[in-house]
Amino acid sequence: MAHIRIPKGWEIPERQATPEHIFWNRRKFLSALGITALGTAGIVPRPLWASDSPYPAKRNPAFRLDRPITSERIATRYNNFYEFSDQKEMVWKLVDRFQTEPWTIAVTGLVHKPQTLDVFQLIRRLPLEERLYRLRCVEAWSMAVPWTGFPLKKLIDLVQPTSDARYLRLVSFFRPAQAPGQMKHQRHPWPHSQGLTMAEAMNELSFLVTGMYGHELPKQNGAPIRLAVPWKYGFKSIKSIVAIEFTAQEPRTFWNDVAPHEYHFTANVDPGVPHPQWSQATERDIGTGEIRPTLLYNGYGSFVAHLYDRLHE
Ligand code: MTE
Repeated sequence: MAHIRIPKGWEIPERQATPEHIFWNRRKFLSALGITALGTAGIVPRPLWASDSPYPAKRNPAFRLDRPITSERIATRYNNFYEFSDQKEMVWKLVDRFQTEPWTIAVTGLVHKPQTLDVFQLIRRLPLEERLYRLRCVEAWSMAVPWTGFPLKKLIDLVQPTSDARYLRLVSFFRPAQAPGQMKHQRHPWPHSQGLTMAEAMNELSFLVTGMYGHELPKQNGAPIRLAVPWKYGFKSIKSIVAIEFTAQEPRTFWNDVAPHEYHFTANVDPGVPHPQWSQATERDIGTGEIRPTLLYNGYGSFVAHLYDRLHE
């Protein structure tokens, strides 16, 4: 019998990594031109960071891929963002009216220090890093993206949850005048919301994302701040977050309200548990078109399996 060895998440082939000297030369080259952040998919971010842009941030080598990075053009033009459209290829064309500046996150609930955080001040305050993460959508497609941001734990430390806090409820915006999908689907339980347990939120993989491909997040990918929880199906990675509430009870979530039998609260990637309408055993890489076997916890078991192992409870 052939012995098939599935590479571990951290075993990135050399050819897929950006050599350090190229990374730093690119940074120097851009700053010499006075350009601090420049997209390649027709996205030119606002000149918000005059001379001291935090982008591109230094890559954290602890988070590696077992597959090529998805091209930026594809990752920014094939989006699930129902606030704008239920057609993935349309989202990027419909975000123009969406205002992402100024932007604050209201942090409330079971915390000692409730506060409203200005996202751009937060970016100044917390060091940013780049991480290569896989994203596995519940619809059985996947991509691999260089996200820039900071661990969710850093924000949690700022607000100091009380000992009663057991969950986080993360909430997106409600602005039908700026988001045609919200105008069209008025019966949906807007605003979009998601939830995590405290242990999940404190895990080192839970990442608040403010940029991708070395510059600020484009609107269609969740500007100015979104979540990335790569061991869970993509719908848990809520975009354009305006509020975080710490609660004692498991919060309700958008997709669970829409289709309770299809989108569970935990939603960990698991090839052995089919969606009611399709198998989750494999996935289609939206960059290469390749069909790959789906990995338990999307290949991140070494970081998170202990959270779900009854022996550890
Ligand atoms: N966040 C909000 N606010 N609205 C959404 O419709 N879609 C989710 C998630 N976050 C969604 C969201 C789904 S289903 C996926 S797969 C990912 O965003 C897609 O992220 P991407 O467009 O950056 O690939």
